[in-house]
Amino acid sequence: MTSQPINVNEFQELARRALPKMYYDFYNGGSEDQYTLKQNIEAFSRITLRPRVLVDVSRIDMSTSLLGYKISAPILIAPTSMHQLAHPEGEKATARAAAACNTIMVLSFTSNCTIEEVASSCNAVRFFQLYVLSHPKTLVYKHRDVSAELVKRAERYGFKAIVLTVDAPRLGRREADIKNKMIPPKIKNLEGLLKTEVDSGDGSILEAYANRTTDASLCWKDIEWLRSIASLPILVKGILTHEDARKAVEAGVDGIVVSNHGGRQLNYAPPTISVLEEVVHAVGGKVPVLVDGGVRRGTDVFKALALGAKAVLVVNIDKLLEHLFTFSSRKLQVGRPVLYGLAAMGEDGVRSVIEMLKNELELTMALSGCPNLKDIKRSHVMTYHESLH
Ligand code: FNR
Repeated sequence: MTSQPINVNEFQELARRALPKMYYDFYNGGSEDQYTLKQNIEAFSRITLRPRVLVDVSRIDMSTSLLGYKISAPILIAPTSMHQLAHPEGEKATARAAAACNTIMVLSFTSNCTIEEVASSCNAVRFFQLYVLSHPKTLVYKHRDVSAELVKRAERYGFKAIVLTVDAPRLGRREADIKNKMIPPKIKNLEGLLKTEVDSGDGSILEAYANRTTDASLCWKDIEWLRSIASLPILVKGILTHEDARKAVEAGVDGIVVSNHGGRQLNYAPPTISVLEEVVHAVGGKVPVLVDGGVRRGTDVFKALALGAKAVLVVNIDKLLEHLFTFSSRKLQVGRPVLYGLAAMGEDGVRSVIEMLKNELELTMALSGCPNLKDIKRSHVMTYHESLH
């Protein structure tokens, strides 16, 4: 491909050429034989659209809000670790692109740039994604104090919500990283908080670090602990069942992200778009439901909104879009696509990815007879099972 990319998928090839194999594999890969990774995308393609015609679509409005913050479209930037693998400016470039596109960036706990650097690089609305660490041999502080410290810093530097990732008590088995003996670059955000000596054995150093630091005892009652140390709204990321969606609402969270971590954790977890509706029904509009995993086209965003998401999340690389949805406000977040854009063209690449998705969503809304997000209804989509009847 010699010309400029014209869709998000084309950024993936540019990213593949731009990155060393170890890093591209890290961004692109999933766990074990990657069933969930592939199905996240396949499941979107099994949903078709039911367009309505002769509706005035001369003006399309994609704007919405999440937790009171107005954004230009229901597309957020998902938390992904280590953006300096893609570009020297790392998360600062991604944050500037989020500000330029008037959307929300969710900063990963394991970022190369610090909370403070990202906060001072732009005025984008930022959420902070949290992992809970607790391991006396590898951490400088005891108990959960490293995580608590980062929460305090995020609050102090103007982050607007905590996104607690709950699908990673241990790292999924990412076989490409094991083969490549993946070496993470410096996680500056954790500087001074981790002890450096981790013996990786003969595999992924990243995996060794994750498994020697993560607090695998984290459970539902710990939402209370998080509330006791954070005054910000709390979203939980990694919900895939109606049972857990109800528990999350009972625990008093402020939002839910339907996510399987982009197919990087439990292989054979369901594709997110196939369980979105189950979660949305269980939540019953009490809190916003977002979704990510496999969002690569504006039509994917539209499908997620029709099935009840508030928004989608996208990432920077190969899977440029991950979608987060909420029932009431409709947003998605994008994951890998953001990373691919960053790797290919830095801040401009991330902007292009978000703008491409927005333009595609706008066109889909026009061709489906939906001038506003609230016009996108369940009846605008047909799932594979429905098409059989
Ligand atoms: C992730 N994801 C992730 N999630 C999280 O909560 N904290 C993190 O640090 C990371 N890091 C990370 C790195 C990379 C390279 C990828 C691809 C993903 C998961 C991410 O937030 C999101 O759930 C998925 O990326 C969505 O799937 P797609 O859109 O990338 O296919």
